[in-house]
Amino acid sequence: MCGIIGYIGSRSCPELIYQGLEKLEYRGYDSAGIAVISSGQITTVKAAGKLARLRPFMGGLPAAAHIGMGHTRWATHGEPSDENAHPHGEAGASVIHNGIIENYKELKLELIAQGVSFKSETDTEVILHLLLAELQKGTSVHMALLKLLPQLQGAFSLGIMNRDEPEALYLVKQGSPLVIGCGKDETFFASDPLPLIPYCQHFLFLEDGEFARITRAGAEVWNFAGVQQEKPAVTMDWDSAAAEKNGFNHYMLKEIHEQPQMFSSTISRHLDLHTNSLILDHLGLDKIDLAQVKRLHFVACGSAYYAALVGKYLMETLPQFPCDVELASEFRYREPFIGPDTLVIAVSQSGETADTLASVKYARAKGCQTLALCNVKFSSIPRECHSAFYMEAGPEIGVASTKAFTSMLLNLYIFSLGLARLRHTLSAEALAQHLSQLKLLPPLAAQALAQDKNIATYALQFLHETHCLFIGRGFSYAIALEGALKLKEISYIHGEGYAGGELKHGPIALIEKSLAVIAVVPRDKLYDKMLANIEEIRARKGRIIAITSGNDPHLAQTCEAVLSCPAIDNPCLQAVLSSMILQQFAYYVALHRGTDVDQPRNLAKSVTVE
Ligand code: AGP
Repeated sequence: MCGIIGYIGSRSCPELIYQGLEKLEYRGYDSAGIAVISSGQITTVKAAGKLARLRPFMGGLPAAAHIGMGHTRWATHGEPSDENAHPHGEAGASVIHNGIIENYKELKLELIAQGVSFKSETDTEVILHLLLAELQKGTSVHMALLKLLPQLQGAFSLGIMNRDEPEALYLVKQGSPLVIGCGKDETFFASDPLPLIPYCQHFLFLEDGEFARITRAGAEVWNFAGVQQEKPAVTMDWDSAAAEKNGFNHYMLKEIHEQPQMFSSTISRHLDLHTNSLILDHLGLDKIDLAQVKRLHFVACGSAYYAALVGKYLMETLPQFPCDVELASEFRYREPFIGPDTLVIAVSQSGETADTLASVKYARAKGCQTLALCNVKFSSIPRECHSAFYMEAGPEIGVASTKAFTSMLLNLYIFSLGLARLRHTLSAEALAQHLSQLKLLPPLAAQALAQDKNIATYALQFLHETHCLFIGRGFSYAIALEGALKLKEISYIHGEGYAGGELKHGPIALIEKSLAVIAVVPRDKLYDKMLANIEEIRARKGRIIAITSGNDPHLAQTCEAVLSCPAIDNPCLQAVLSSMILQQFAYYVALHRGTDVDQPRNLAKSVTVE
């Protein structure tokens, strides 16, 4: 969950690496550091806290340095401190690491027994000393890696510098993402392509079990057994402007406001607007043998899991597939009963979530076909799957998922319509109706954004709450779960999502005047059931905030606040619109509470460790 980046070329690299770390900070921000080689010496600056805390030390790096690497940390072993910050260096070698060395304790004890003294509490420092032990025998970094890599267990994407090889950087990829960017007489590496977009068009994606030596001229790649690997370069179609705030105060707000346009481009990608027909080319189904598929099984984490819940409802009603949905962290360890008749669909914005990736590997080992719904091309999960369906939502920098979540809902809806079309479970008329409703989404999404002032005003009243419940039914149950996650992860107010029908089975005991209940209550077939929940809460002096698509005067009289949502007679698209209201609600509560909206404490954008 850290961000790593490195450079070798003709430019001065300290500032270039710092700016690259700014684009990677969403991956972790407990500490940061940069090491460069100049005049045969390695100079390192590092500091606990966010990247900005490193700025005062940047003058200590020689501007003449043309080779260097940087790291922004999400702490796994050892608290965020200067000593535990990366890079870790000694005796002319320097290491940065993304991942976890699972057997670091026994390795550390062996090294201590050999007289090695450690400066930090990190697992990473073990790698440094294993490397030094080889280099001090006079071996090259290449030979040292062949010796030490088989000793490591866990996830480790590494950057390595050696002052005796000032014309090269070494990289290792195992379990955590790592990409090489190829420029003109310069070469980069990073945890993901985002910081390299301004400099590179061509990228090499390392696979697990590979290491590389990069120079200005390019990269050489081997597997851990030392066999050279050929790596085709790929091009990325992201533009660097997409990774800027473009005038918004926060990436999260920018990404909330990108949704109408994102919906339009997604719809036009899958719909032939002239013939009002579905384009099936981009659904990733061309590499799936549908004749073998008898059931679907979603695996995902966090918001992606809540999106997959909506996916389940869609797959069972439209293409009429039996469909399970499961947290990837549970799926991968419980030995689920799956096999060649199961299509496992991994939903992941980043394509790097460790538990989801492990679930895909488990499913493949059981003979399942696997498909990734993902937002980042060439990331680990789609590369591990038989096929991929890309969301094309553009980069999402805010740690809290917004446009990626609604993009998942929209793409799962389109995917379910495509499957229904192929399985003939939907009449042409019914399909045409769905497609017509899809076209209504972008303007309705713009209307949802126009509610921001009303939402921001109410958010001011909500600031001092300490805990709250979110309730919903059907598709809105998933939205209640997601709304609770949004609020808690950026405002730090505890929110818990519940199915409305579950209130009487325990949570109603919590209802009292001090408890706010956010009810997601669109005018759908479960509206009256939700009204009954609201009455039960009111009868016990609970306070209700309704997110509703109707203008029911009764709600206005009985609720503390009503946050209006545009209405559409389509449960999935209504769920998209309801979640946009809750995104803005969470944003404004967090904003007024003064928390770090884009980089909430303890979190990171991509959870690449278990
Ligand atoms: C949601 O706001 C969080 N950022 C988090 O729950 C996220 O959805 C989860 O970690 C899954 O990430 P992925 O979609 O990249 O796999």
